[in-house]
Amino acid sequence: MTTTYAVLSEGLEKRFGEVRALRGLDLAVPAGTVCGVLGPNGAGKTTAVRVLTTLLRPDAGSARIAGHDLVREAAAVRRAIGVTGQYATVDGDLTGRQNLRLFARLHRVRNPAGRAAELLDRFGLAEAADRPAATWSGGMRRRLDLAASLIRRPQVLFLDEPTTGLDPAGRGEIWNAVRELSEEGTTILLTTQYLEEADRLADDIALVDRGRVAHTGSPRHLKALIGSYAQAVVADPGALAEAAGVLDRLTGGEPTLDPAHGTVGAVSRDSTLTLPRLVRELDAAGVPLLDASLRPPTLDEVFLRLTGDSLAGDGLTGDSLTGDSPAGGSLAGDDKEIAA
Ligand SMILES: Nc1ncnc2c1ncn2[C@@H]1O[C@H](COP(=O)(O)OP(=O)(O)O)[C@@H](O)[C@H]1O
Ligand SMILES: [Mg+2]
Repeated sequence: MTTTYAVLSEGLEKRFGEVRALRGLDLAVPAGTVCGVLGPNGAGKTTAVRVLTTLLRPDAGSARIAGHDLVREAAAVRRAIGVTGQYATVDGDLTGRQNLRLFARLHRVRNPAGRAAELLDRFGLAEAADRPAATWSGGMRRRLDLAASLIRRPQVLFLDEPTTGLDPAGRGEIWNAVRELSEEGTTILLTTQYLEEADRLADDIALVDRGRVAHTGSPRHLKALIGSYAQAVVADPGALAEAAGVLDRLTGGEPTLDPAHGTVGAVSRDSTLTLPRLVRELDAAGVPLLDASLRPPTLDEVFLRLTGDSLAGDGLTGDSLTGDSPAGGSLAGDDKEIAA
């Protein structure tokens, strides 16, 4: 059986002046699956979503969405997709119901009031439906956004950082909605900065680094690549070197020492390393131990390991153009917005 891809992109490029937001983005999302596009601020996630949803024209490369060519068949692409942006798009002055009816009419849905009621119900928003959206919680507004993107029952749904800024409860509600949609067969591409989110929702993760996919694979595959993070806190700074030696041997990683806090840590390449073993070995080496831990890697560690870059601070803000300037003259004001 051949795989049908709901999203298939090859070498997508997008520039904003000097900034190369996408530098050859390759994505392959099998129909019916959830793809988590994981990357730090500035990696190009929003640009990727805007290009793949026809809101921005790519400078180079090609893509097929639900079988339609992104550029030549943009109208067909738009009919097949739903999109929820990184920032809420609902009108706070309107009630939830008014917002959805408006969307339904804009998209020429047959029974706008009925469709609005159906979606409000489905996302647990019926009770608040007739209050202005501005009075709703962040989680509720995101769910309204999500409902709006489903007005036309899309085959492929794009969600740009659907849970950023939400509290854990709001995040959980969005996660449940994503799972349900996926179970119904909707293909979902969601971007996120949270490893945990990609881990929970995605069948496959595409790790995006500066406009390119650095790694793809299932969450399990990615984690196995990275292992866990082992850390020890020693009571006596004099024992740090000894502890580092033990960690080096157990993890195969390169331990980082922090004498000020008496800690030493390393990403473990050995996925079978356990906390009891870590403690036992440190103890056997005579290290006076205050604390020891073994935890999943953070996104920072994933990135550091897989891309050689740190996420620290504001992190990766697109690459500058280097070398040849591309054909086609001026780059300034190159943000080719395509009117909806
Ligand atoms: N309209 C724009 N004009 C200029 N630069 C932009 C624009 N949109 C995005 N960028 C730049 O492109 C890079 C990728 O941005 P973005 O796609 O928003 O990343 P992410 O969503 O992963 O945070 C960043 O360096 C950002 O500053
Ligand atoms: Mg973004």
